[in-house]
Amino acid sequence: MNKEVSTPNRYAVVGNPVSHSLSPRIHQAFARQARIDLSYEAIELPEAGFAKGIENLQSQEFKGLNVTVPFKQQAWLLCDRKSPRANDARAVNTLILLSDGTIAGDNTDGVGLTRDLVNNHRALIKRRKVLVLGAGGAVRGVLPSLLALSPENLTVANRTLEKAEQLAKDFQNIGEVTSCAYDGLGREKFDLIINGTSAGLTHEIPPVPDTVLGVNSICYDMMYNITGNTAFVDWAINRGASSSIDGLGMLVEQAAESFFIWHGVPVDTAEVIASLRGQK
Ligand code: ATR
Repeated sequence: MNKEVSTPNRYAVVGNPVSHSLSPRIHQAFARQARIDLSYEAIELPEAGFAKGIENLQSQEFKGLNVTVPFKQQAWLLCDRKSPRANDARAVNTLILLSDGTIAGDNTDGVGLTRDLVNNHRALIKRRKVLVLGAGGAVRGVLPSLLALSPENLTVANRTLEKAEQLAKDFQNIGEVTSCAYDGLGREKFDLIINGTSAGLTHEIPPVPDTVLGVNSICYDMMYNITGNTAFVDWAINRGASSSIDGLGMLVEQAAESFFIWHGVPVDTAEVIASLRGQK
């Protein structure tokens, strides 16, 4: 092997918009821990130019990419090979750009959520009643991992009932999902309530009734806000939820799994989460 030729170790997150992304900071922190020399950038691709943009990055010898909103489903379609969990979610957030020009895809969002819940927050999912709010791409990405942990039941509530119904149908081979609109939730209480809607982008909360909260309910927002609480976290705190957690830990955990896929090295996520929280 000719050691004088150094192959670039380039990685990036692609999305639109993407300039706010914490992924470069997270991956650079992991790289320092693992003593791996790499670059990791945030690259905005035009909404109508995903495939062309990826081709361009392949020609620049990028080795791996994270994919964020709104390209995860397009990434799934583009991949030559996909992991079972990417196929379950029909969405990809991790691309491996192989030297033969092919692309392999994986989805680490679901494992990011469940590791944050179970490992970092000691939340129980097995035999617990789980309510997921929203039925869009973000929820599709995490449902397989939640179902794999055998909840007592899993209900998806969505503003547009038809989308929740479609989602339940699409996942019926993976596990049982009950679908409803918010006003169809009745008086059932849930142990774990996960906000997977994008309502937080406009500082709104989905119209979920307070009656879903029991004395020990844990609320989890898949969104995060590095400078304060998300609207959903505030909603849960104000109603006395036993825990109210935002999605920063999920972000770091999904990144750690991508890092492991690319570099084969496990990292200490707690250190990175603490450092991001400390920079509020
Ligand atoms: P993402 O990729 O972030 O999941 P998406 O696929 O557009 O984005 O899905 C957004 C989800 O947030 C949907 O479930 C949407 O509800 P509808 O299907 O009824 O549109 C939900 N959502 C967005 N804004 C909301 C709001 N203000 N209140 C309740 N639900 C909201």
